Amino acid sequence: MPVSIRQIHPVFVGEVSGVDLTAAVSRQDVAAIEAGMDKYAVLVFRDQALSDAQQMQFTRNFGAIENARGGNVTRDEDRRLVSGMNDVSNLGKDGQPLARDSRQRLFNLGNLLWHSDSSFRPVPAKYSLLSARVVNPKGGDTEFADMRAAYDALDADSKAEIEHLVCEHSLMYSRGSLGFVDYSDEEKQLFKPVRQRLVRTHPVSGRKSLYLSSHAGSILGKPTPEARILLNDLKEHATQPRFVYVHKWKPHDLVMWDNRQTMHRGRRYDENQPRDVRRTTVAGDAPTVAQAAE
Ligand SMILES: [Fe+2]
Repeated sequence: MPVSIRQIHPVFVGEVSGVDLTAAVSRQDVAAIEAGMDKYAVLVFRDQALSDAQQMQFTRNFGAIENARGGNVTRDEDRRLVSGMNDVSNLGKDGQPLARDSRQRLFNLGNLLWHSDSSFRPVPAKYSLLSARVVNPKGGDTEFADMRAAYDALDADSKAEIEHLVCEHSLMYSRGSLGFVDYSDEEKQLFKPVRQRLVRTHPVSGRKSLYLSSHAGSILGKPTPEARILLNDLKEHATQPRFVYVHKWKPHDLVMWDNRQTMHRGRRYDENQPRDVRRTTVAGDAPTVAQAAE
């Protein structure tokens, strides 16, 4: 049975059937999935009981796996998962939920803010793939917003105002908005702001999109409060319910999204219960704009 994709939201998101991701996926099916990503920006696969090795193997069909260094404050010796897997769970290395005051947990709460993965890197991520191994009985949805539809819905003056703007993104901006402000010198170096265009053009479809993320904290040439008001207005516009898909997780769901065309956020859940969701990330292939000279 060939891959088929059914759109499940008025503006984006496809549900994929006819493919088993635990086995090697044919080149033809990979091409159909990539074309689906270009069109729908988010794809949902049900009943895919993946191992970490299988998830990484499927991910590599779309490009190199991103190096996770500099993406969080978890120390190497505290990592639960192998290199190449991003841990989006609430679990420590011992398999138990992290303590309430755990620095790792408090930092990871930033995932509940609207963002695009790795927008804080000079070359930001292409795709993310999130596999649900253990889900919560209540809460813990992931929401996605279509940044192409949000861009299309702006009026002509707003489009002209933002066309050439360049933002600075850093994990210290998103976490700072939560009051998480203490970093070691090494972390400050790792989390140094990078530049990103505010309007991106998709390399295949040619569609423009808003490149927003809670990691964005300033706009070149604008006073900070003015920049943040504009970014906040754009975020409110872009996350109206008509642009948002809410994913309610079932065990063995895999959801794959294009970070160049969407934002997402997690929702709160009972953190006394284990939640084991694991992400792989496909690296991007170019910066969105030249970085500042060192
Ligand atoms: Fe994320």
